Amino acid sequence: ERGDYRHFMLKEIFEQPRAVADTLEGRIAGAHVVPESFGYGAPEVFQRARSVVLVACGTSYHAALVARYWIESIAGLPCTVEVASEYRYRKHVVPTDALFVTLSQSGETADTLAALRLAKESGFAATLAICNVPESSLVRESDLVLLTHAGPEIGVASTKAFTTQLVALLLLTLALGRAQSLDEATEAAMVTILRTLPTKIEAVLELDARIAALAETFVDKQHTLFLGRGEQYPIAMEGALKLKEISYIHAEAYPAGELKHGPLALIDDQMPVVAVAPNNSLLEKLKSNLEEVRARGGQLYVFADRDVPMSEEDGVTVIRLPETDDLLDPIIFTIPMQLLAYHVAVLKGTDVDQPRNLAKSVTVE
Ligand code: M6R
Repeated sequence: ERGDYRHFMLKEIFEQPRAVADTLEGRIAGAHVVPESFGYGAPEVFQRARSVVLVACGTSYHAALVARYWIESIAGLPCTVEVASEYRYRKHVVPTDALFVTLSQSGETADTLAALRLAKESGFAATLAICNVPESSLVRESDLVLLTHAGPEIGVASTKAFTTQLVALLLLTLALGRAQSLDEATEAAMVTILRTLPTKIEAVLELDARIAALAETFVDKQHTLFLGRGEQYPIAMEGALKLKEISYIHAEAYPAGELKHGPLALIDDQMPVVAVAPNNSLLEKLKSNLEEVRARGGQLYVFADRDVPMSEEDGVTVIRLPETDDLLDPIIFTIPMQLLAYHVAVLKGTDVDQPRNLAKSVTVE
C-alpha cells in the first residue's frame, strides 16, 4: 500500500530509517556484530577467509563496489567486485580460501544466480548471499545468508534495498574484520556509529523540499555528470543510474580524478555536474577537480557536509547535509541522490514506479 505517498518509490525512500533499523535488529549484541547472524558455521568461514569476491547486478553491484573499500580498509582482506553477467562468462583463478558473496534484492536475478552456481562448482571455500527475499533461489542455494529486512520493494528503481545492503555489508565487514585482525575497541566504536544511522537518515530526509526545488533545473537537461572519489564514486554511479532509469536523462558517473582524462571535454554551461563531497581526506582533491569544471562554465551542484568550506558563487550550488561520520557517508549521501532522481522524474511526468523497458526482477539474461 502506498498510503499517502504519490509513488511507491517515495514511500520506500522514506521507509529507509525503519528498514535500516530492522536490518540491524538482532545482528548486534552490545557493541559487537553477532557472526552467527550469517548462519551456522559463519565464524569459522570468516576466520579461514583470505579474500572476498563480490558479484551482483545494477544497484546491488554498486553496493558491492562500496563494500570493497570497507573490506580492504577495515577487515584487511583483498576484495574484488564484478558484475554477474561478466563474471559468469570468463575463466577464473579461484583464490584459496576465498569467500564468494552475491548481493541481490530479489534473489532471482538470472546472471547473479548463474554466477553463484558457477562459484559453487569452481571450488570457493564458501558462498554467502545478502538478499531481501527469504524464499528466493539465491538464499536457498547459498551456504550462508544475511537477509536485508527492507520489506517488499515495489518501485523498479531500487532504494531501500540498496541502503539496507550497505548496512548488511558493514555488518559483514565488521564480522570478517573481527575474525581477522580488527581489534575489539575499533569494532565497538564502529557499531556505536552504526546504531545512529536511522536517526541520521531521518535528518537527511528533511532535505526533500530543497531537493524538489533543485530538481526544476534538471528537467530540461539532456545529460548530467556525477562525480565522487573513494567510496563516494559508487554513490555517484548509483545517483546516475537512478536518474537515467526513471527520468530518462542520460547520466554518467566518473571518479573525479578521471575528469581530465576525457570527460572534461563535455563540460560547457549546459552541463550540470553533481558532486558528492563529504568532508574526508579526499575533499581537497575533489575540490580541485570541481574547480576544473567551474573554470569551464559547468553548472555545479555539490552535496556537501555541513562543515565543508565551499561558497555558493556563480554556477555553484551547495546543498548541505547534516553532520555524520565518515563510515556512514556512503549511505547518507545516497538519500539526496534518490530524492533528486525522484523529483526530476515527477516533474518530467514519467512513470516513476514502472519506468519504460525495465522489469523489477530480471529473471532472464
Ligand atoms: O534483485 P537484484 O538486486 O539482483 O537486481 C539487480 C538489478 O536488476 C537492480 O538493482 C536494477 O539495477 C534496479 N532497477 C536499479 O534501480
